[in-house]
Amino acid sequence: MSERSGQELYERIPAKIYDDAQAAVVQVAGEIAAAIRERQASGGKFVLGLATGSTPVPLYRELIRIHREEGLSFANVISFNLDEYFPIDDRHPESYHRFMREQLFDHIDMPDEQINIPKGDVPREEVFDACKEYEDAIVAAGGIDIQILGIGRTGHIGFNEPGSGPKSRTRLVTLDRLTRLDAARDFHGEHNVPRYAVTMGVGTIMDAKKVYLLAWGRSKAEVIRAAVEDDPVENLPASFLQAHENVSFILDTASGSELTRNKYPWLVGFPDWTPELARESVTHLSLKLGKPLLKLVDKDYQENGLSELVTEQGPAYGLNIRVFNEVQHTITGWPGGKPDADDTYRPERAVPAQKRVLVLSPEPQDDVLAMAGTLSRLVAHGHDVTVAYLTSGSLGVPDEEARWAADLMLEAGGGEIAIDVLRELDEKGDFDEDTADLRQFKSYIRRNEARASLERCGLEKERIRFLDLPFYEEGRYRRFVTGERDVVAVKELLQSVQPHQVYVTGEAADPSSVQAKSFSVFEQAISELADEAWLSDCYVWLYRSDGSEWEIHQIEMSVPCSPDEVKTKAQAIYQHRSQRSQVPAINETQSEAWEQAVARNRETSSLYDRLGLAEYEAIECFVRWTVSK
Ligand code: F6R
Repeated sequence: MSERSGQELYERIPAKIYDDAQAAVVQVAGEIAAAIRERQASGGKFVLGLATGSTPVPLYRELIRIHREEGLSFANVISFNLDEYFPIDDRHPESYHRFMREQLFDHIDMPDEQINIPKGDVPREEVFDACKEYEDAIVAAGGIDIQILGIGRTGHIGFNEPGSGPKSRTRLVTLDRLTRLDAARDFHGEHNVPRYAVTMGVGTIMDAKKVYLLAWGRSKAEVIRAAVEDDPVENLPASFLQAHENVSFILDTASGSELTRNKYPWLVGFPDWTPELARESVTHLSLKLGKPLLKLVDKDYQENGLSELVTEQGPAYGLNIRVFNEVQHTITGWPGGKPDADDTYRPERAVPAQKRVLVLSPEPQDDVLAMAGTLSRLVAHGHDVTVAYLTSGSLGVPDEEARWAADLMLEAGGGEIAIDVLRELDEKGDFDEDTADLRQFKSYIRRNEARASLERCGLEKERIRFLDLPFYEEGRYRRFVTGERDVVAVKELLQSVQPHQVYVTGEAADPSSVQAKSFSVFEQAISELADEAWLSDCYVWLYRSDGSEWEIHQIEMSVPCSPDEVKTKAQAIYQHRSQRSQVPAINETQSEAWEQAVARNRETSSLYDRLGLAEYEAIECFVRWTVSK
């Protein structure tokens, strides 16, 4: 028997990692197209299992492209979708019936009678029979040839939430709280998300001849690692796929980033010990052993798979000091640079002492969630700070908030507009989208929250810009498409400010998210401005606002917050009233945005403390971006 490679020792499911989702779907769509054509040649039907959600959207776009440009016909394809909310009307904007029509079926030549999706609108007492019929129909079609899956943050496949058994079949299930929270924005509030769903079972999925599970973005990275590397458990239904004989996980760099081969490459082979990898492994060792950096000894390295590193770059003490200094130098109370100071080892340059700073926030609130403390310092240190909100954030305002504001206006004699808004809210049907006027009104709510929030950070109203990028105004959550007009608006902003520093977020985020879309627009704008002189003297700092945080070895600038600054930060986030949970948490451990943000910053400071550096109240952190990152 040949010796198994280090990677195979950890990974129990074949996983392919592509540069990005687009590269991955080109490959998968090509394989699907080839399989459909092969079946056509022999005159047979091809049975395709389909998923919904944001993950397969680029795959469906690619299949549509192949249909249009390369003549792929779906006339011999029978499809079975994984799931549907329950109860839900087919016409509901979030129903999977409607989703599939809009994202795929309306654009290809698959006959309607060959489309199968679990029904979300049958009477409750008929659901059991409907599920049985669904299973029978799959068998009658000859079984699923290729099944496409996404994965939820709970580890669900289909809507098989934690607790689903490996042999479960198509049935009615209760949705997990996290799944409902993830869908809350699409449904304009958690309370509108259906509590149940009808889903193929894990056993039904396991019967498919070939399974592709797709995952993009770092929010899926941990659940992907657990599904691929840990023992299969009911708590993580995707892990049951380990027993499937023909399954592939198709990942982008971000969703594959937690796999041992990427996260701890020294455990699976002989890596190139770059300074960054050395920093990563040494900080990891220190935290794992609970020993400050400067107390690590050769034996600690040798016993933890790092003999090679310590032989090459040791002895331990020298290596410890080097990494200690590198981490130490990331800390600065001067995010805009310290005037008149030697900046050789500082994250930011001293000159010019007063910088033009541009903070880009995809939606109102991203900015303060990640960097209210840093923002306050930049303002206090006299820099020329501009905050620009790329999108209006209007889709994130629940109707209740709009009604509250319109009622208030009416009572204060606000007249026409308030009356119009209230009428629109009254007339709005269950399946209706907000009209342009209502969206506009909601965007004013967010503008005012943003102004109140930034006031806490000391920023004057005149320093705030609202770009209302068209991709957001014309789209809906998870289905945004960016274009030239977005790029032009961001380019104009950059040109008018000509910043020395830009703060931006969205790199490696879920590609369908507002953050990721905003980042891609920014990236495009920067690349088109490459020849501008000011750009050669501009540092771009990345922050994170999506609930994740940079890892300690990645951080290039850490800005400590005093206890008072932490209070200011919480107050700044608190001003985003429409983003507070609409359902108060009683007897639940759910926490609000400001609590989560502060907890994350405290966790970062605790990591510095555990490594043996100074102990701060909280730390906000950033990574410097260069085009290649
Ligand atoms: C959808 C489905 C779900 C999703 C999962 C990920 O039919 O069954 O398992 O695949 O919730 O959703 P997205 O892709 O929106 O992150």
